Amino acid sequence: MSRAAVLTGLGTYVPPRVVTNDELSRTMDTSDEWIRSRTGITRRHWAEPGTATGDLAVEAGERALKSAGSGDADLVVLATTTPDHPCPATAPDVAARLGLDAVAAYDIGAVCSGFIYAMASAAGAIAAGIAERALVIGAETYSTILNPEDRTTSVIFGDGAGAVVLRAGDPAEPGALLGHDLGSDGSLKDLIIVPAGGSRRPSAAADASGARPAETYFHMEGKPVFRHAVTRMAASSRAMLDRAGWDPESVDRFVGHQANVRILHAVADQLGMARDRTVVNLDRVGNTSAASIPLALADAVAGGLLTPGDRVLLSAFGGGVTWGSTALVWPEIVAD
Ligand code: ACO
Repeated sequence: MSRAAVLTGLGTYVPPRVVTNDELSRTMDTSDEWIRSRTGITRRHWAEPGTATGDLAVEAGERALKSAGSGDADLVVLATTTPDHPCPATAPDVAARLGLDAVAAYDIGAVCSGFIYAMASAAGAIAAGIAERALVIGAETYSTILNPEDRTTSVIFGDGAGAVVLRAGDPAEPGALLGHDLGSDGSLKDLIIVPAGGSRRPSAAADASGARPAETYFHMEGKPVFRHAVTRMAASSRAMLDRAGWDPESVDRFVGHQANVRILHAVADQLGMARDRTVVNLDRVGNTSAASIPLALADAVAGGLLTPGDRVLLSAFGGGVTWGSTALVWPEIVAD
């Protein structure tokens, strides 16, 4: 009998500091009105300096394990764009801090699609019998790579972490992931990029004034990213729905990557799905990249928008460029 990865726990964490649109308007040429109307975002959380992605990941991981009713896992997959260090990966340290002794642990880099890629990777390991119980985490501290002088990106991103536990189970059970659709187009890599800090351009030195060079910050071409995000998320969602044998109208909740409420509505329109099926929490947390899907799931559970038996479609688009989707029937779980 084939084995499926079944969602059995969900936990999230955002750092306590809330940054409002008004606060950003005091230090850069922007306004609450512009940010709200162009993106839907009203506030986000930013970690205090010194807090790293791994710190948020440990908090979310702990809560997901508690939600799953057991502290056990034999695999940790961590999706992030903002690892604690270029080397080594952040996942082994997070696993150790969670008391998961000698488990397989690695990072996945697919930017905002990272969580879907990480779930696919963990589901593959479970299906192949490599793992029985996987902790899948999406965690980010974008505040560490945002250029304070770039209003086009600084207003969009927030910090946070979300995690799920996937266990080996039956494909017919509620919570079983019903497959994945994944893709990429590397010819568009420059649309979303941190130019320096890798092997192509090792970390740039600070200039004479000690200022951090612009190439070490995150850069995004917003307009084309918007266009590609809509097209790719819609196509990937369609492919996933075909795989699951679901009509778009039969989907109860669409949990898309929380980049921009206009993108989420455009994808729903292209799929022929009512806009009110779309889960939106970006208004309160901004775009948290690899953490955005689990944060949106937990928010929907807390708000009573996601209940056992619901048909749920997940889809994301991010740097690379990359995209991915999965689907499941929502199980009985208590999110933490
Ligand atoms: N405040 C005020 N004005 C601004 C701001 C700001 N924060 N940012 C840009 N503007 C100005 C621009 O300078 C421009 O002015 P101009 O017309 O005088 O040139 C004007 O507003 C319009 O700018 P656009 O970039 O055309 O605005 P747009 O409506 O495209 O919105 C946005 C920009 C929000 C970034 C949008 O393009 C977007 O959401 N893109 C997609 C982002 C995304 O999906 N990311 C997901 C993947 S991210 C990842 O993988 C990490």
